[in-house]
Amino acid sequence: MNISKKMQDAFNTQITAELYSSNLYLQMAFWFRKEGWKGFANWMFHHSDEEKQHGLEMANFVLDRGGEAVVDAINKPEANFTDPKQVFELTLAHEQHVTELINRLADVAEQEHDRASINFVDKFIDEQVEEEKTVRDILNLFRHRDGHTVATIDDIVGTEQAD
Ligand SMILES: [Fe+2]
Ligand SMILES: [Fe+2]
Repeated sequence: MNISKKMQDAFNTQITAELYSSNLYLQMAFWFRKEGWKGFANWMFHHSDEEKQHGLEMANFVLDRGGEAVVDAINKPEANFTDPKQVFELTLAHEQHVTELINRLADVAEQEHDRASINFVDKFIDEQVEEEKTVRDILNLFRHRDGHTVATIDDIVGTEQAD
């Protein structure tokens, strides 16, 4: 069964959001590099690639189901940051926003009684739990900073990378 127009459009909206996320994290990676935070930059470059991958996975799914995948205009991401902790706070807020978008995508899949899409979107619901947790773990390192300098955190985050 081909994907419905409504489901297809909802996926295309989410593809745009994933590409926006990819650009946002790329911009954060550039900022970290400019400021000399190599570990954080590494983490952000990796995370940026992952978001693009999410968009591509969704596009492939839509295409596999006989739909049309569209690359829409991507808004310019935020580029002014104050310090590493603030960047990760923005990252957590952004991931929480993306979680809401994914939940809405799941709602459309249910409204459409589209079992394949429900199944497909489920993986991204799990993925969001993981991503929010990963960023929260990094923020905890900042919160427990008594034992860490920011340089130590940069080191830890840079070697751990994003999943
Ligand atoms: Fe994503
Ligand atoms: Fe994400």
